[in-house]
Amino acid sequence: MDIIESLQWRYAAKKFDPSKSVSPGDLKTILEAGNLAATSYGLQPFQFVVVSDPDLRQQLVPFSYNQPQPGQASHVIVIAVNTNVDADFIKASATYTEQVRGLEDGQLDGYAKQMIGAITSMDEEQRLIWAQKQSYIVLANLMTACAALKIDSCPMEGFVPAEYNRLLDLESKNLHASVVLPIGYRAEDDEQQNFTKVRRPLKEMTHYL
Ligand SMILES: Cc1cc2nc3c(=O)[nH]c(=O)nc-3n(C[C@H](O)[C@H](O)[C@H](O)COP(=O)(O)O)c2cc1C
Repeated sequence: MDIIESLQWRYAAKKFDPSKSVSPGDLKTILEAGNLAATSYGLQPFQFVVVSDPDLRQQLVPFSYNQPQPGQASHVIVIAVNTNVDADFIKASATYTEQVRGLEDGQLDGYAKQMIGAITSMDEEQRLIWAQKQSYIVLANLMTACAALKIDSCPMEGFVPAEYNRLLDLESKNLHASVVLPIGYRAEDDEQQNFTKVRRPLKEMTHYL
């Protein structure tokens, strides 16, 4: 399938077939695609929390406004943002880049200082919003990879972050649930798959200057 066909095929699944599982290989590909998302300064201020345990997935349902998808899907990928993006986090990221690119120790100190200045000028709430913006780019990569593999998904903002944080013990890891993506295979009787996709025509959505 080409890219447009895959994206036409994708829809936000309302009902998954609980008997079907995403293979470990496909799950890895999907997560790799998410991890390749662009992030501001390349700081990757997020983590994937992959919930496959059926009991735990079921416990997420009441904290998802009783939407059934987390309970039925093969895996629930919670994109959680880091709440500890501070000078140490940024220095560690710069050091890692030096190692991966074979640079000298401290070669990126100046760049790190610049990043620290920019990020620490934001208050805690602004930093959370900044990190959450990145998480939506990650979400899009995950969804596109799923579609390319003919794996269904449903992006979800309809959940209670504080309860997800508690249930998945995210705060102890300096994480905060940002957006959620149950993945798996659509139920045959998910009526949503029969609805015509509604998008305003591209010519109404685009300004060529
Ligand atoms: C950020 C975001 C949050 C969403 N939250 C939910 C949700 O909580 N539950 C749900 O069933 N669909 C949710 N959706 C799915 C949208 O309703 C859906 O993508 C939109 O209606 C377009 O339909 P399509 O994706 O099937 O083409 C969400 C979509 C996005 C992008």
